[in-house]
Amino acid sequence: MDAIRLDYTNALSDAVGEHGVSPQDLAELAPRSAAALEAVQARRATELRWMDLPHADDVRAEIRAYAQEVAGRFKNVVVLGIGGSALGMTALQTALNGPFHNLAPGGRPRLFVLDNVDPDLIGEFLRTVDPAKTLFNVISKSGGTAETMSQFLIVRQALIDAVGEDAHARHVVVTTDAEKGTLREIAQRDGYRAFVVPDGVGGRFSVLCPVGLVPAALVGIDIDALCAGAAAMDARCKEPELLQNPAQVYAALQWLFQQRRGMPMAVTFAYSDRLKNLADWYAQLLAESIGKRRGRDGADVFTGPTPVRAVGVTDQHSQVQLYVEGPFDKWFTLLSVEAPEHDVTIPPAYADLDAVAYLGGRTLKELFQAERDGTRIALTEAGRPNVTVSFPAVNAHTVGQYLYLMELAVALMGEHYGIDAFDQPGVEAGKVAAYALMGRPGYDERRAEIEAAARGEPRVV
Ligand code: PA5
Repeated sequence: MDAIRLDYTNALSDAVGEHGVSPQDLAELAPRSAAALEAVQARRATELRWMDLPHADDVRAEIRAYAQEVAGRFKNVVVLGIGGSALGMTALQTALNGPFHNLAPGGRPRLFVLDNVDPDLIGEFLRTVDPAKTLFNVISKSGGTAETMSQFLIVRQALIDAVGEDAHARHVVVTTDAEKGTLREIAQRDGYRAFVVPDGVGGRFSVLCPVGLVPAALVGIDIDALCAGAAAMDARCKEPELLQNPAQVYAALQWLFQQRRGMPMAVTFAYSDRLKNLADWYAQLLAESIGKRRGRDGADVFTGPTPVRAVGVTDQHSQVQLYVEGPFDKWFTLLSVEAPEHDVTIPPAYADLDAVAYLGGRTLKELFQAERDGTRIALTEAGRPNVTVSFPAVNAHTVGQYLYLMELAVALMGEHYGIDAFDQPGVEAGKVAAYALMGRPGYDERRAEIEAAARGEPRVV
């Protein structure tokens, strides 16, 4: 299978001058990077269980069997989840089933990922989609997230209304912790089919466990090829030599650009409509993992890069002016596809009009790649460091490689930044505040604190 490649030529000072990093910078970081890799690998068997997900053949067999069992029974698959319980599946769907999957006739079910509680979204969904023809995958590692549980309560009632109390359970499949959490208790009580989010697999590292694999299998994605790709990247990234290991290189560059070149922003610029939601998935992975108040010693560090998402060529006509001429506060990762599945020839017409005649007979692949290369050249000539992750093609294997590459790179970044990449106290704080405001039992004290703090006069214009 073809390997994705990380080309970091244009991250170096030889290409972009003073804002780039030097081979010397990388060489100095090599011992620390090798130690980081060793530290992360040492924790894979005990805590960082996400690292072994690509090798969980038995789990995939169980998921395949379930997908076969329900095949043909549902017109729609709906994911109820948020954050790490939704972003991975959205990325897989866009990359591997394409943007018009839901319009394709017959065959595989349509997919909807409801990762919000905006009443307009859910209200419109209830008005449009028939629950009697739908399988709902309720995904929550903690089993108590207010958004997901609210969605669940709403669709559960809609299902009961549509198909009756007894039959509704056949329309629900739950993915949650093996033992803990309210969702597990509900699954047991109501007899819902359930899959497990294993210990040591945080939300943003969960796409290769049942969180991503169950809905992926239900809509026909090749989960074996996906995990084979991730396993191939796992093998590549065991290499201790920094310059031979793409995860080490990527993590080192992220740290160097932020901490040594003063660039707080990391732009993932997907030159592929299919890969654009991988940029969304990575944004969460980076932001929640590295954006931390405290270092490992407990002292305040207030650190972390700000992820930015862009799509080529669309954002050439929106963001690129800023990227090429604005402040030197960003470094760029272009996602590029060498062999798109389709090519489309532009028909020749208007031979006497120079502004369109030159396009006739050329293909969209040529145009798209010329635009990508043009942007890369413009960034490089303007002294903006950029790397390219090159996908030979977009398929389950290459996407699996990318997912694992980024997960491991972020784990290594955690070592460089000296923070815990696997907790999310900021997210938990928001959840607790929402529970308090919604009157969840046990959160009265927090509610009183919030109300006391909000006593001043609001200033509104
Ligand atoms: O990555 C994370 O930990 C978060 O984004 C969670 O996935 C998100 O908050 C949803 O949590 P849960 O899966 O427990 O409902």
